[in-house]
Amino acid sequence: MQQDRPLGIGLVGAGFIAATRARCYRALGGRAALRAVATRNPARASDFAQAHGVAGAAESFDALLARDDIDLVDLCVPNDLHRPMTEAAARAGKHVVCTKPLTAYVGQDLGDDPEAEVAATPRRRMLELAVADAEAMVAACDAAGVQLMYGENWVYAPGVVRAAGLLGQADGTILDMRGGESHKGSHSPYSKLWRHTGGGALLRLGAHPIGAMLWLKREEARRRGAAPIVATAVTADVADLSRIAALDAETAAYVTRGWVDVENWGFVSIAFSDGSRGLAWGADTTLGGMESRLDIQASNARYRCNLSPNDLLQAYAPDASVFGDAYIMEKVDSGAGWTTPIPDEDWTSGHLAMCADFVDAVRSGRPARSDGRLGADVVRVVYAAYVAAAEGRRVALDA
Ligand SMILES: NC(=O)c1ccc[n+]([C@@H]2O[C@H](COP(=O)([O-])OP(=O)(O)OC[C@H]3O[C@@H](n4cnc5c(N)ncnc54)[C@H](OP(=O)(O)O)[C@@H]3O)[C@@H](O)[C@H]2O)c1
Repeated sequence: MQQDRPLGIGLVGAGFIAATRARCYRALGGRAALRAVATRNPARASDFAQAHGVAGAAESFDALLARDDIDLVDLCVPNDLHRPMTEAAARAGKHVVCTKPLTAYVGQDLGDDPEAEVAATPRRRMLELAVADAEAMVAACDAAGVQLMYGENWVYAPGVVRAAGLLGQADGTILDMRGGESHKGSHSPYSKLWRHTGGGALLRLGAHPIGAMLWLKREEARRRGAAPIVATAVTADVADLSRIAALDAETAAYVTRGWVDVENWGFVSIAFSDGSRGLAWGADTTLGGMESRLDIQASNARYRCNLSPNDLLQAYAPDASVFGDAYIMEKVDSGAGWTTPIPDEDWTSGHLAMCADFVDAVRSGRPARSDGRLGADVVRVVYAAYVAAAEGRRVALDA
């Protein structure tokens, strides 16, 4: 049922992705109202609220859930909190947006021992637990009658959406997809430790192209009224390229180093139930700014989707001082030479359209495009890929 009043939003977390979400919900005008933000630290929440146009700070996550004027909570918190916070929010009758990855293996079976070697856990055990967490989140929201929406911006990126529209118009069959996200290394020291992130580049970055591929094949089947097309098997490899010995002798290597127990390079080849294939990768070893691309080879057309960089604007400056401290694009820290200053990253990345879909879905009582099922399927593919890489063989996915 269509609501007349704005949808009340509660943000949880006040870091990098929370700032993106705050900008995007704010841009929706009267459709959404950013009512409160909660972190572990009320003072930090207050600072964030002031800086990002949120009405106020909640004392705690529980206090945020207790408010009647909040309809939807957006969880912008570390991966180990995704399941418990989703379950608590569902119990409180709130719709949930959960950022990627939906779940991760961060040693949830090892207790609180800070010395536990999380990355040493067999990959099959990781697969089992990460998937169980994801399925529990989907079930908790289903049981509570609230929506679980998965924060996969790629399925809302203008290039991917237009390609999906043309695929429908041309009624093409996707034969093969190749896509990846890569840059010079995460800003966060937590990204270097399995116990915090639950994996490396394949999970943090590869989750995006994997999500887009699973969604595109899901759409192809839906359009034709056919049985769902799902991932059935994977092969994969992962590596820490910063450990290549020759780098020790270099004085000017720009690649981020210091990865403790996670990969900074990884790919997965996905076999789909209709025989088509997807090749997805993530890397923290790529210079030149954030690179997010998807190439789709269909039976009657080809598509190249550029999320970042793109050439909406190309600029040249002979020296970095010309543009001063102006923001160019994600993971580019110099405006010298030819650059691609992206006019609106929230739009090109799909974040803006994603937040609009989540809000409109709840307001009108229809499902969102990116849902918890998609998030759970991505988790299954990523952790099956870790099994395949560790065991050096093709791994079948359970239905
Ligand atoms: N494109 C994308 O979709 C995208 C991009 C980047 C990140 N992400 C995802 O977003 C999530 C957060 O990443 P980030 O880069 O935003 O991390 P971040 O900058 O470190 O922010 C994490 C936030 O979580 C808060 N937090 C931690 N524990 C909490 C608790 N118990 N209760 C309430 N708040 C808590 C922290 O605040 P306090 O310390 O004050 O509690 C902090 O503000 C991750 O799952 C990541 O994978 C998605």
